[in-house]
Amino acid sequence: MKRNLKEDKTGISKKDLESSIKTLTSVLSNEMILYTKTRNFHWGSVSGNIFTEIHRLFENQYLELAQVIDEVAERVKKLGGQEMGTTDEFFDNATLRESTQNIDRDKMIAELLSDHEQVTTELRSSIVKLSETNDYGTIYFLTGLALKHESKTWILRKHIN
Ligand SMILES: [Fe+2]
Repeated sequence: MKRNLKEDKTGISKKDLESSIKTLTSVLSNEMILYTKTRNFHWGSVSGNIFTEIHRLFENQYLELAQVIDEVAERVKKLGGQEMGTTDEFFDNATLRESTQNIDRDKMIAELLSDHEQVTTELRSSIVKLSETNDYGTIYFLTGLALKHESKTWILRKHIN
């Protein structure tokens, strides 16, 4: 991964900045996988009598994830890092995996639920890890992100039959 870490003059050590950037890079990768998967499921959910509700639910979620992706990438930039931009890099740095093809709508919901639960769990661990640093901005940012994933988890869980 290319990095262009310049000296920080806001009181965060280089070591701590690197730790935050590494965490955010992993988060960005997972958000990209989750965005792509949610968008793919939006396209694949075009059938059945609750087509509109689930189709729109997935659309709302991928639109929110697109916003999150920008915010994470911008946070990397603010810390002096170099955000990733290729699918190969995202795949290498993600802990989530792409879905198998042609799964039904219930399995799509279950898979997205599981992914959001995993991302939320990993965010909690990252927040604990970063609490040893004084990068409170990133800790606050990741806490807000965990809340967003908790909301999506809650909504998806309500759609499990
Ligand atoms: Fe659409």
